[in-house]
Amino acid sequence: MRILITGADGQLGHELQQTLSRHDLTLGIYPTFDLLKPEVESFVMDACPDVVIHAAAYTNVEQAEQEPDVAMSVNADGTERVARAVSKIGARLICLSTDYVFDGQKKVPYEETDPTNPLNAYGRSKLEGERRALACCSNTLIIRTAWLYGLHGNNFVKTIMQRAVEQKELRVVADQRGCPTHAGDLAAVIAQVVKIDLRGIAHATGDGSCTWYEFASKIVALMGVAIAVRPITTEEARRAAVRPPYTVLANRTLAQLGITMPHWEDALVRFMQEMRAAAC
Ligand SMILES: NC(=O)c1ccc[n+]([C@@H]2O[C@H](COP(=O)([O-])OP(=O)(O)OC[C@H]3O[C@@H](n4cnc5c(N)ncnc54)[C@H](OP(=O)(O)O)[C@@H]3O)[C@@H](O)[C@H]2O)c1
Repeated sequence: MRILITGADGQLGHELQQTLSRHDLTLGIYPTFDLLKPEVESFVMDACPDVVIHAAAYTNVEQAEQEPDVAMSVNADGTERVARAVSKIGARLICLSTDYVFDGQKKVPYEETDPTNPLNAYGRSKLEGERRALACCSNTLIIRTAWLYGLHGNNFVKTIMQRAVEQKELRVVADQRGCPTHAGDLAAVIAQVVKIDLRGIAHATGDGSCTWYEFASKIVALMGVAIAVRPITTEEARRAAVRPPYTVLANRTLAQLGITMPHWEDALVRFMQEMRAAAC
């Protein structure tokens, strides 16, 4: 199968490259592939893929508050460019999105059909990207994921691991609950989804849920370092972007197809082993 991966140099993109290596891959890498430029359409069409996995995005949630127009241009206008090109060549689009399309007011896991209401600029730009993708390309699957971490790039797990050896105490938000997701596990699910005709929206996150505080505590415990992890509130964290308090996603669509994801704690144990192996 011919597959174009956008954002191939990102956290998920790297895992996709490995997981899908037996396919004929074209890699969309910034700045050669720039979602802000109209040439994106010809890039997609020239690659002539069967499937485009659109993982490229403006992903800095805090910075998006300072430059919401840029986030919107990349995540909505850029996604529309990709979707138009995919539609023109009769290919299929798998477009990555986020749990931050929800406002976090629910107390039970969000399903794919639940109403959206993003609270921050990043979430609004990703939701608009979802809408444009679905409107411009009938053969689109939106995959919403969350709290992603992988070997490549910066993420929460790596930040906690670094701070745990540099600082005496960690203060971590304990009133936001979500689903940590191993990027390799997500890539494996996407590799399964590539083979089936699935359209619409599917949630794909690690099984189970935790708060950032619980997530950090588990990372520190697995490291075996004696450092205090203190719970703080979202207010105390003083972040620019408003964060939804609860974005646990139910992977309902995938479950109906018999596709499951590992529990976040098991995935984290595996990831820490992968980190150690990569360091050797
Ligand atoms: N990370 C998470 O926790 C999380 C959670 C939910 C959903 N998601 C979604 O999952 C997908 C993959 O996330 P990720 O963690 O792999 O993100 P990532 O590591 O930040 O990768 C995104 C990639 O997009 C590229 N990019 C940025 N601006 C671009 C532009 N104008 N044109 C083309 N490419 C551009 C980046 O290039 P540079 O590095 O050169 O800027 C990077 O390679 C994204 O759609 C994201 O919104 C992520």
